Amino acid sequence: MELVRPELFDFHGVAMIKYFTDNWENIQNFQARPDDILIATYPKAGTTWVSNILDLLYFGHMSADRQKTIPIYNRVPFLESSLPTMDSGKELADKLQTSPRLIKTHLPVQFVPKSFWEQNCRIVYVARNAKDNVVSFFHFDRMNLLQPDPKDWSSFLQRFMEGKMVFGSWYDHVNGWWQKKQTYEKLHYMLFEDMIEDTGREIDKLCSFLGVSPSAEEKEKITGVVQFDEMKKNPMANYSTCAVMDLKISPFMRKGKVGDWKNHFTVAQNEVFEEVYQKKMKDASLQFRTQL
Ligand code: A3P
Repeated sequence: MELVRPELFDFHGVAMIKYFTDNWENIQNFQARPDDILIATYPKAGTTWVSNILDLLYFGHMSADRQKTIPIYNRVPFLESSLPTMDSGKELADKLQTSPRLIKTHLPVQFVPKSFWEQNCRIVYVARNAKDNVVSFFHFDRMNLLQPDPKDWSSFLQRFMEGKMVFGSWYDHVNGWWQKKQTYEKLHYMLFEDMIEDTGREIDKLCSFLGVSPSAEEKEKITGVVQFDEMKKNPMANYSTCAVMDLKISPFMRKGKVGDWKNHFTVAQNEVFEEVYQKKMKDASLQFRTQL
C-alpha cells in the first residue's frame, strides 16, 4: 500500500490531518460508558507508557497472553484514528470486550465527545515539558509515514511554536486540559517528568485516583515491566508491529529521558523558545521541569 503523508489543515481552529477528522461524526457520537477510562495526551507526552501501566493494573493478572500477543494500540484503541491500515479507533473501542475499556485520545479538551462528560468518566491526562515534547514529536514525524513531513528541525521547531502541529498547539492543549481539571473532579493530571523521577510514586497516585489497590508484589512487577528498556524490547509495546512506522529511521521507544532537548536546541533557538513560552504560558500554577 502506498502511504501518503497528509497535509495539515485548520479544523475548528486546530491544526489536524484527515486521518483524525475523517470519522468525525462517529467520533463525536461515541457512546462512553461510566467505567470507561480515557487516556488523554498531546502526542509524545508518554501516552504509551501510561496506557501500558493502566492495562497492566486492570488486566495484568488476566492472562499472560494479553500482554504477549496484543499490541498496545489494540488493547487501548486510539479513539479518533481512521488510518488506511487498520480498523478505526471507534470500531476497535466498540469491539473491546474488557471492562473497564481503556481508550486513548490526543484531542484537545474542547473536542472530546460529550458522552465522556455526561457519563462522568475518569480521565488520565499526561503532559510533558514542551522542549522534550517537540523533540520527540520531530523524530516521530520523521519515522511515522502517516504524519506530515517534518522537514528540517529548525522549521519544525518554528511550526511547533506557531501551533502548526497535528492536534494543534501544545500550549493550548496542556492549558486547556489544566483548566478543565479545575472544574472536573475525575481528571488526574500527570507529568512525564514526575514519572521519570519516581515511577512507583506516580503509579501509587494513579491507583488512588482509579480506586484500585494492587498488591505490593503486583505493583513491583508492573513497575518493572514498564521500565523504558523493558518496553523498548517488547514488540507489543514498541510499535515494531506497526506498518506505518519505519523504526529504522527512529525507534518509537527512542530515548525516554528528560532533557534530551539540550542535544537539539541551539542557544539561539532556546532563547526564542523561552520568549514565546513566557507569552503563551501565563498560568503560573502549571509548571514543567525541563531537567531533573
Ligand atoms: P522520546 O521520543 O523522547 O524517547 P507517546 O507514547 O505519547 O507517543 O510518547 C512517546 C515518548 O514516550 C517517547 O519519548 C518514548 O521513548 C517515551 N516513552 C515511552 N515509554 C516510556 C517508558 N517506559 N519510560 C520512559 N519513556 C517512555
